[in-house]
Amino acid sequence: MQRFPLKNGVYSNQAHVRVPEGTYEMEYGRQGFFGEATHLYTREMPSAWKRIEGPLKPIALDCRNIETLDQAESRGTPTLLLQSMAACARRSLSLYLTRRSEPMPFLYRTVDGDELYFFHRGTGVFETEFGILPYQQGDYVVIPKGCVYRVVPESPDMLAIIAESRTAFGIPDRGILGSHALFDAGVIQYPDFDQKRSGLNGGEIEVQVKRAGFRTKLFFDYNPIENVVGYKGTVLPSKLNVRDFRPISSMRYHVPPTGGATFASTEVFVGTFAPRPLGDDEVLRLPYYHRNIDYDEVIFYHEGTFFSRGGIEPGMLTLHPMGIDHGPHPQAWERDRKGLTKQTNEYAVALDAVEPLFVTPEGMKGAIEAYSTSWYNPIEARELVSELA
Ligand SMILES: [Fe+2]
Repeated sequence: MQRFPLKNGVYSNQAHVRVPEGTYEMEYGRQGFFGEATHLYTREMPSAWKRIEGPLKPIALDCRNIETLDQAESRGTPTLLLQSMAACARRSLSLYLTRRSEPMPFLYRTVDGDELYFFHRGTGVFETEFGILPYQQGDYVVIPKGCVYRVVPESPDMLAIIAESRTAFGIPDRGILGSHALFDAGVIQYPDFDQKRSGLNGGEIEVQVKRAGFRTKLFFDYNPIENVVGYKGTVLPSKLNVRDFRPISSMRYHVPPTGGATFASTEVFVGTFAPRPLGDDEVLRLPYYHRNIDYDEVIFYHEGTFFSRGGIEPGMLTLHPMGIDHGPHPQAWERDRKGLTKQTNEYAVALDAVEPLFVTPEGMKGAIEAYSTSWYNPIEARELVSELA
């Protein structure tokens, strides 16, 4: 049943448009940005707390400062940064950082979930049962649960995040935008079966199988990748580059983050922020403050200037837990007042997780101090804005 909004005090009849002078708009809504919502209009920035205590502090990690086990040692593994509740060992969502510099000397498959790689840096290939799938900067690579593969870097500077979701990644419905919006399925690339080579030859071939976080090793006299002589079906690795992602935008409507829907499983919604024009002077160009009550929000910052943030650089990642208000930094409002936010040049990956996420001790090694109160510090804002001027 359609419910009509109740109104009191100072407000706007159209969300994100003509926000009353001297107020901030904050969205308090269900199902991320999909469900019923109320917009609250506030005098002060809703996330400008002076102090925060307890486990729900927003966190920023500088992934460039986290050394991973696979960075210096070819038998090393990616480093777990974030994980959902440990109610059972088979978590709904885990987020890893991989900085592999040498080829895996083994083959690998996980039954803990589908893996979605996002490559911030680096070039190389995935050797899979389905053939060779190259990767490069800006690639999303989806490896379905159980697929046997091996990562072979061709440059030493790899930095990628891996979202491992217990349920399969798919492409969200585009609704009234039509099936070719955001990206046409025609731009998705699949492994080249004709190039089905593997650098692992001779001697014993090791396959590591991960289940519930633990690895079991299988040893073969033959290479299980080379062993596949053909296939037919729809379950296989694929990739999409962010430059093939064509965002929707509107000059007269603030498109919510869900407008960047790229992949989704029942555990996590993955969106892409890509360069786009922003609204006219009536429309709220910066993101509105919101109190997400159904998702923990992770953003990995890939490239460009992040128009809603201050002090965040490419290669960093933030976590905003559900229940805690968040929105643009003071620096972003300064830039907007100077007319510097007519167009974004940012690329970022947003992951909205259904289950609460927790940062691991390894992840905390990249934590940026004072991020959780960075909406309160106007001095930092002034410094950044003067740099931009
Ligand atoms: Fe958010």
